[in-house]
Amino acid sequence: MIEFKDVKKVYPNGTEALGGIDLKIEDGEFVFIVGVSGAGKSTLTKLLTREEKITSGSLTVNGFDLSRMPERKVPYYRRRIGVVFQDFRLLPDMTVYENVAFAMQIVGEPKRVIKRRVPSILSIVGLQDKASCFPDQLAGGEQQRVALARALANNPATIIADEPTGNIDPRLSLEIMNLLIKIHRKNKTVIVVTHEKQLVDYFQQRVVTIDGGNIVSDRVGGMFGETV
Ligand SMILES: Nc1ncnc2c1ncn2[C@@H]1O[C@H](COP(=O)(O)OP(=O)(O)O)[C@@H](O)[C@H]1O
Ligand SMILES: [Mg+2]
Repeated sequence: MIEFKDVKKVYPNGTEALGGIDLKIEDGEFVFIVGVSGAGKSTLTKLLTREEKITSGSLTVNGFDLSRMPERKVPYYRRRIGVVFQDFRLLPDMTVYENVAFAMQIVGEPKRVIKRRVPSILSIVGLQDKASCFPDQLAGGEQQRVALARALANNPATIIADEPTGNIDPRLSLEIMNLLIKIHRKNKTVIVVTHEKQLVDYFQQRVVTIDGGNIVSDRVGGMFGETV
């Protein structure tokens, strides 16, 4: 479970990015986070990945109390969540296979486990035939699928994606979003920041809207509420 209790985030320059967030996300939920530019969406995801620390309140993620977590425990925590970025952040000198395998190597998985698991993860995202390609040989949508595969490599309970379709041809955004839904169906908590209204409306999932650092609505349906 993920629980924000009265979470405030004030950046060192005095900007209050989040003004008191109360939000509970149960295990296995799918949640869209929406809101205009500057609303505080990325700040919220950065608190979850512990790229940023909360200023006050409390934040618990799958039993980890992020308000009290010492810096030395952060790498250990990060291995237990999967993160997908707008700009993919793949390693350009490694193949698709190696990008996914690398995520497993750094947590010390044995070679035989890696050999078995990488192909099965690549098939989840439909890239089994691209294993030996380098990122620059792939289309944007495919690169993002590699990033998704990498996020899944260590079987995290939670996937956090900040505008995962922001750098992708709109025609392929649906494909990425479908994959995130498929991952959610494998019993994972999936949190997706997006401003693609059509996709939010299409999937009819929980939608949390942030404005000016506060949650202004939390409901199931399209961006503006229930449409079914
Ligand atoms: N590192 C930072 N230092 C100071 N202000 C920041 C920083 N990051 C974001 N902000 C500010 O915090 C607010 C929320 O930003 P952000 O979370 O990136 O919004 P969103 O992702 O919804 O566009 C904005 O006013 C932004 O300018
Ligand atoms: Mg953002």
